[in-house]
Amino acid sequence: MTNVTFDVETVRAAYPALRDGYAYLDGAAGTQVPEAVIDTVAAAARGGIGNAGGAFPASHRATAIVNGCREAVADLVGGEAAGVILGPNMTTLTYRLAGTLADTWGPGDEIVVSRLDHDANVRPWLQAAARAGVTVRWAEVDISTGELPAEQYATLVGDRTRLVAVTAASNILGTRPDVAAITAIAHQVGALTYVDGVHATPHVPVDVHALGADFYATSAYKWSGPHIGTVIADPALLDTLHPDKLASSPDTIPERFEYGTPAYADLAGVTAAVDHLASLGGERFGTRRERILASMTTVHDYEQALFDTLLGGLNALSHVTTYGKAAHRTATAYFNVHGRPPAEVAAYLAEHRVNVWHGHNYAWELTGVLGLRDSGGAVRAGLVHYNNRHDVDQLLTAVAALAA
Ligand SMILES: Cc1ncc(COP(=O)(O)O)c(C=O)c1O
Repeated sequence: MTNVTFDVETVRAAYPALRDGYAYLDGAAGTQVPEAVIDTVAAAARGGIGNAGGAFPASHRATAIVNGCREAVADLVGGEAAGVILGPNMTTLTYRLAGTLADTWGPGDEIVVSRLDHDANVRPWLQAAARAGVTVRWAEVDISTGELPAEQYATLVGDRTRLVAVTAASNILGTRPDVAAITAIAHQVGALTYVDGVHATPHVPVDVHALGADFYATSAYKWSGPHIGTVIADPALLDTLHPDKLASSPDTIPERFEYGTPAYADLAGVTAAVDHLASLGGERFGTRRERILASMTTVHDYEQALFDTLLGGLNALSHVTTYGKAAHRTATAYFNVHGRPPAEVAAYLAEHRVNVWHGHNYAWELTGVLGLRDSGGAVRAGLVHYNNRHDVDQLLTAVAALAA
């Protein structure tokens, strides 16, 4: 536990969207944004933004926004600003990096992907591997627990392994695998690691070095920011890679991985979102990185305590089945109500002002091995830092009423 406080009602007051009476338990699909992010995006537009790299003040402002955004993301995950690639979302950036890395692979090489992952950290690698004649090895999930055992990587990884792609947290079961142990195995043979941090980042303090992530992907719209994705890597590693690019676009790092003109106002909003996260723990002193680490520890503890109530409440209902019981997991529940299709449950909950997702949620392989994909998946109710006990009660009361 930390020595800082977390006042959820003050936090909620910063989010205008939360005033509509709905329980926003759909954060794993995308969070709401606080006033500070909305104001920052609007102020950037109002203040005048040119295209970056020009001679006039509005252009200088665009350059400052981009630089500020890279610094903020680097602070959030413990990376280097010069290694922060910005783009529209994680999926687009992952396809770009998969294509770029595959240019360095050849027949006989191997990669390892996992069944725990969101398809955005699977399919781009499979398709790139197929084009390069590379063999794909699969890390399997223990479906009785939802764990991704790290030990299996010792047999999956070999001399020809070029890349290990793994998630820092499952977006449906919440499972947080031992990423550091997995990347250590990959690094023993010189393989690169691509860690999907999209679901994990809003829930835990992140340190890309401690995780052993050569690439770490995260999307700001999952942590109170605009719809922007980012991949963080060591600039020296990026320097060795050559994505397709226009003849006229910069060949510098990280710019050569970024296509076209970015959403400048939204990038300003990303910085505001990081500042918002840094403020959540109530710390006023220290660097932004230090305040983020304190905040995210507080957020983690808060979410886990509330999740005990949510998961305990669902498990107490005899007409409900929940999936996954990993030792380390985010506050994300995946469940079915007996005899009712998940889509019907989600629609019923919407009538009761509870926002949840249903279906496979792009956890394509995982819902496949769980035997849920063909029957409509399940219902996902996830907590983020702005959810409160009332949200949880609203869900539990509505689900309880579905008995019989
Ligand atoms: C774990 C995980 N990975 C990747 C993605 C894809 O992210 P994006 O929408 O930024 O492409 C998501 C989106 O839900 C996700 O939850």
